[in-house]
Order: sequence, then C-alpha cells, then structure tokens
Amino acid sequence: MPSILVTGGTGYIGSHTCIALIENGCDVTVVDNLSNSSAAVLDRIKKITGKKPLFHKVDLLDAKGLAAVFKARAFDAVIHFAGFKAVSESMSAPLDYYHNNIAGTLNLCRLMQAHDASTLVFSSSATVYGDAAVSPVTEASPLAPASPYGRTKLMIEMILRDIAMSNPAFRVSLLRYFNPAGAHESGLMGEDPRGTPNNLMPCISQAAVGRLPRLNVFGNDYPTPDGTGIRDYIHVMDLAEGHLKALEHIGRTGAIAAYNLGMGQGHSVLELIAAFENASGRKVPYVFTRRRPGDVAVLYADPAKANAELAWKAARGIETICTDTWRWQKGNPEGYEGS
Ligand code: NAD
Ligand code: UFG
Repeated sequence: MPSILVTGGTGYIGSHTCIALIENGCDVTVVDNLSNSSAAVLDRIKKITGKKPLFHKVDLLDAKGLAAVFKARAFDAVIHFAGFKAVSESMSAPLDYYHNNIAGTLNLCRLMQAHDASTLVFSSSATVYGDAAVSPVTEASPLAPASPYGRTKLMIEMILRDIAMSNPAFRVSLLRYFNPAGAHESGLMGEDPRGTPNNLMPCISQAAVGRLPRLNVFGNDYPTPDGTGIRDYIHVMDLAEGHLKALEHIGRTGAIAAYNLGMGQGHSVLELIAAFENASGRKVPYVFTRRRPGDVAVLYADPAKANAELAWKAARGIETICTDTWRWQKGNPEGYEGS
C-alpha cells in the first residue's frame, strides 16, 4: 500500500484528494496547521471512505515538528497543497506569502531529501501565466504572474526544477490548476473557507443560502459576450483524480513536468450563476460592481498535455459542479464547524 504524505490535506482540494487516494488503496498521512481548514473534515473523509487519515497538526514552518512526521513514517510520495492562496491578501501581506509558501516548501524539500522521499506533486496555479496570457494557455505560454501569491508559485516551480537538476532521483509533477469548484457528490465535503470567501463559487453558494447578502459581480464591461469574466471551472474531484494520474505517470517524461489541469472550456460569471440557479432552484442575489484589480477578461486552459501524458481528462461539467456545490452548501450552511 503506497504511503502518501499530503500537506494541506484538511484544506479544500487536499481533503478531496485524500478521498481519491484512500479509495485507490493509498495509506494517507495529513499535515496541516489548520490555518484555513477544520480538523472536522477528517471524520467526513472517514464517513465516505471508511478510513481516517493519520493527522499531524504541524506547521510547515516548524522544521522540528515536520521532522518528527518524517521520522514516524516513510513516504513513497508527497502531495504538497499547504500554502496561502488569496491573491488580494498577498498584495497587502507579501512577506507572509513569501515566508509561508516558500519557506514551508524549503523545509519540506529538505526533509524529503534527508529521508530519500523523492516523488513530489506540487499544487501550482494557472496564475503563473499572469495577465497577458492568451487563452487557451498551454504549458509553453509565457510565465508572468501578476501578484506575490502567483510569484510564490512560480518561484517554487523554479526551486523544484533546481532540486531536480541536482538530484537525479527527484521526480516532480507541477500541476497548474485553473478554477477548482464543486464538492464531493456525497454532500459531506466541500469548500469551507474561513471568513468571507474570495472565489466565485463559494460566494455564489453562500449568497444562495443566505450566508452572504448578495454576490458582487466584478465588472460587466469586459470584452466577452455577456461582459463578465470567463474562467475554466474544474470539478474538485476531477482535480483530485488528476493527482492520482500524476503520481502514476510521474517521471515518465523527464524528472519534472508541468501540466495544466482544466476543462479546456471557459464559462462567464453570469453563465455560472444561471447554472447554479438551475441546479439549486434558488435565486442568486447579485449586483454588478467595478472590476476587481488584477482580473483578466478570459482565462482557460489547453489541457492537451495532461490529457495525453497523464491519461487524464476532466469529466464533470458546470452542471455537476453546481449540483454538487449546492448539495454541500444546503446540508452544511455554516460549513464543517457549524454542522
Ligand atoms: P486551502 O486553503 O483550502 O488549503 C490549504 C491548506 O494548507 C489549508 O488547510 C491550510 O490550513 C494549510 N496551510 C497553509 N499554510 C500552512 C503551513 N505553513 N503549514 C501547514 N499547513 C498550512 O486551499 P485549496 O484551495 O485547497 O488550495 C490548495 C493548494 O492549491 C494551495 O497551494 C493553492 O495555492 C493551490 N491552488 C488553489 C486554487 C484554488 O482556487 N483553490 C487554484 C490554484 C492553485
Ligand atoms: N468574481 C466575481 N465575484 C466574486 C468573485 C469572483 O465576479 O465575488 C469573478 C472574477 O472577477 C472572475 C471570476 O469570478 O472573473 C473567477 O474569480 P475567482 O476569484 O473565483 O478566481 P480567479 O480566476 O480570480 O483566481 C483563481 C484562484 C487563484 C488561481 C487562479 C488560477 O483564486 O488562486 O484561479 O486561474 F491562481
């Protein structure tokens, strides 16, 4: 049974990936400092899979604490989700972002080297392509992130490339996620950010359930058919399965490789609202506001490389994303800790 360490495993994408890993016979250990998640998700993972991952409440910045995790168990691979992820917050607190995301990754990599754990899947982001990206973006598109958050992702990609150059055993998959959304089909797990959400889907679902008074639609004057921004929404369970495929195929096309994980299709904010209203039977109250600084009009993936090299393809469309999100939101209006 492969032993996998999942950093950030109580977070949104990490927790859903734990389900896919356990269901595929992996033995999962989670490390998380719970700065943006709840340990209650571990019981939900058990409810769904019958197994609770081994959990260490450890900060990646705590090198000693992390060392104890590596001493306790050997890992065949590490999936590294832990990090801060809010673009706007990274602009007001860049040092926190560089420190948490980069120093945390350095601690992790040092311990991996010390313990001969040499297989790593890293959560990168489409944000590495930046504002000027012309969609569909391929992995060869120019890299020019427009925020400190995005720059932490690109810097970590570069650090991992340097480690792979220096250590022939090191194998890395850099997964550039587009817009993760949706929830586990059971309705037991979903996205539950602390505080007011930043991303579109949790704002839509919280507005629909009355937890937020309304959704602010950031701009209706973009050069798109309905004037609102277009993004590539990918179901979190498709994303979770992408990590399994990445582990399966890691190292086949070189020591380190980057992959776009997206549907390859763009949807506007208004299309997503309409799909959500259709799935939930609820009205989503919204108002148009000014554009959000740093947002681009259109961003969607060319996922051909992941389709071909990882034998992976996102299968669930926005209807499923909305149905699953609503099932989760309706059953858990206050998230994990409120239910
Ligand atoms: P999340 O905030 O739900 O999960 C991240 C987890 O990491 C949280 O549980 C948090 O408590 C933990 N964490 C943060 N810093 C830590 C530290 N120093 N030590 C230990 N744990 C720490 O976010 P998510 O949406 O699940 O994202 C997972 C990864 O995917 C992140 O690296 C994020 O940057 C990346 N990503 C997310 C998106 C998105 O839109 N959700 C898009 C592209 C990339
Ligand atoms: N939007 C709104 N109202 C909101 C939130 C978002 O109208 O309350 C709009 C945005 O303007 C954008 C779209 O919805 O057009 C999607 O916005 P998100 O904030 O959900 O996602 P982004 O595309 O801005 O960014 C996300 C993640 C980043 C990641 C990036 C990769 O937040 O971490 O996808 O594409 F890097």
